[in-house]
Amino acid sequence: MKIWVDPDKCTGHARCYGLAPDLFSVDDYGLSSVVGDGTVPPELEDKARLSIANCPEYAIVEITD
Ligand code: F3S
Repeated sequence: MKIWVDPDKCTGHARCYGLAPDLFSVDDYGLSSVVGDGTVPPELEDKARLSIANCPEYAIVEITD
């Protein structure tokens, strides 16, 4: 599983970071981005899905190729 935060949609609610601090980091403006290249370790996939479901801006997406 791989995820991405759309910088055009993220407005800094920080729910993602609160739910899965291992997967997201927040910049000085409170905007989120994925840690590393967004690859989610299997044990964190539930938290990744929870974060996707809880972002009010629908800014977090799962990347499927
Ligand atoms: Fe941004 Fe959504 Fe997280 S708005 S800070 S990606 S909860």
